[in-house]
Amino acid sequence: MRLDATGYLAPRGFEAHLRRELRGVLAEHGRLFIARGQRQPVHWTENVWLDPVEIKIRSVKDAVLKLRAIQRGWALYAFKLFRRAELIQGQLPHVSARPLEFPAPPPRSPLGSWTLLDEDTVIASSHSTSPFPNGEVRFEEFKSGPPNRAYLKLWEALTLLGRHPRQGERCLDAGASPGGWTWAVSRLGATVVAIDRAPLDPRVEQMPGVEYRQGSAFSLRPGAESFDWILSDVVCYPERLWNWVKAWLETGAVRHFVCTLKFQGDQHYGAIEHFESVKGSRLVHLHANKHELTWIFSRDALGPQDA
Ligand SMILES: C[S@@+](CC[C@H](N)C(=O)[O-])C[C@H]1O[C@@H](n2cnc3c(N)ncnc32)[C@H](O)[C@@H]1O
Repeated sequence: MRLDATGYLAPRGFEAHLRRELRGVLAEHGRLFIARGQRQPVHWTENVWLDPVEIKIRSVKDAVLKLRAIQRGWALYAFKLFRRAELIQGQLPHVSARPLEFPAPPPRSPLGSWTLLDEDTVIASSHSTSPFPNGEVRFEEFKSGPPNRAYLKLWEALTLLGRHPRQGERCLDAGASPGGWTWAVSRLGATVVAIDRAPLDPRVEQMPGVEYRQGSAFSLRPGAESFDWILSDVVCYPERLWNWVKAWLETGAVRHFVCTLKFQGDQHYGAIEHFESVKGSRLVHLHANKHELTWIFSRDALGPQDA
């Protein structure tokens, strides 16, 4: 039975955030929220189930047959009846859980999502917004080299953007210390000005194309120099970040932005509106984000009249 509803999977620990944003919630199943009508523009979700249906099943085998009849690729979101759910998933075509080797593109095969509500009821959506099971983007990680795991957040944003800094491009990494993002950019062959009040890891500072500047990123205003990319992971109020980003946007010279908006308590969500007002940009909760949203914008994605 087709539900006149959409499913939203909240990031772990951010269920209350999603609950506050969503209108017309019909049911909550663990982290999965079912809300009336078509997709709503919410932020605190890692995957959206676009066309959920309720399916009655008589057995594990029946569930497998019914899901397979819809399509091949299914990701399980289990919040109860774990064993039964795993038995069903185990008989569905295998979905590769192999971590992505950045900068490989995301998987292209259609991936549906399903869950078991009770012994004999499945909710399944053949289309969802993330090509990764439950929106969990996993990468082949580097155990040594980067000074922390923050580079995974940048990799995830760049994977969504479908573009990354490359040789010949100049990046500004604001709030760069200890240097995870700068490490990732240098490896891609781009040059990077890394600015932070705190020092950069000396091994990162010595990498090709890296120039470290000590001080506040907000003192660096458009004018004297230009950048292809503005990257920011600065811990600051999102309003402050917006005032600074706006100045760079207005120059029209910076082509790409990846900026983390960091929230404290329940305040400063007002800044979301400013970032979202930028046509063609996206504000998302990445799998690697904590109490943060990531703003992603590329002029390359705009039509000629807007770029
Ligand atoms: C989450 S950390 C950044 C981690 C970094 N992206 C990485 O990959 O290693 C946030 C950084 O923002 C820096 N920061 C805070 N205020 C700043 C400012 N006004 N200008 C530059 N950096 C600032 C802090 O010193 C801190 O190093």
